[in-house]
Amino acid sequence: MWIDVVTAFPGLVEGPLQYSIVRQAIKKGLATIHAHNLRDYATDKHRVIDGYPFGGGGGMVLKPEPLFNCIEVLKQKSERDGRGTYDAIIYLTPDGELLNQRICNALSLHKNIMMVAGHYKGIDQRVRETYITREISIGDYVISGGEQAATILIDAIVRLIPGVLSNATSALSDSFQDGLLDMPVYTRPAEFRGMRVPEVLLEGNHAKIDAWRDEERLRRTRERRPDLLKGQD
Ligand code: ADE
Repeated sequence: MWIDVVTAFPGLVEGPLQYSIVRQAIKKGLATIHAHNLRDYATDKHRVIDGYPFGGGGGMVLKPEPLFNCIEVLKQKSERDGRGTYDAIIYLTPDGELLNQRICNALSLHKNIMMVAGHYKGIDQRVRETYITREISIGDYVISGGEQAATILIDAIVRLIPGVLSNATSALSDSFQDGLLDMPVYTRPAEFRGMRVPEVLLEGNHAKIDAWRDEERLRRTRERRPDLLKGQD
């Protein structure tokens, strides 16, 4: 999977790529991820990328010219490199479609994705109307920029690419993959400060362990996220 990220702060995107599962996916050649500095596509001599919003109000808006330039250069490069058109050009924004596991699963099948990270008050609407094919929010709260949202989306989809996780840690057993939350987990020691691991996990009866886990997942989901169970009976 190829992912290009357009951003005013490439360091915010590159940092998290250097750790854990995403780093391993890159090392194995299963994901290629590039952050592109919007400032390199500014047209004026001061390399300005933002401006005041028309109509007043606080905050700055990312200007259309550098974004159009950058997106057009990346689209041309993708064609030239043989990757063809982008499967999706995603803008991360709090007014986008709310991210969930179903969307991550679908996006993980893509081969060629561009993500645009907004900052400040967001990006000029004309960029959205011309080039963005999908708008995604990571939750009903506002963070300072789309970069962290992009890295969350990258992590959530890259871990689903076959071969990124081992069978033992398969993404299919994650919370949400079958609409349920995960069960409690324990490791050694079996007793710690007087707290004992549930006996069933120590007895080695795998049918019983599976039944216990299913029950715990249901109980947790009922307690914490009953909304996930609606329509699942
Ligand atoms: N940028 C700022 N807040 C965001 C959110 N909740 N989701 C995606 N991008 C954002």
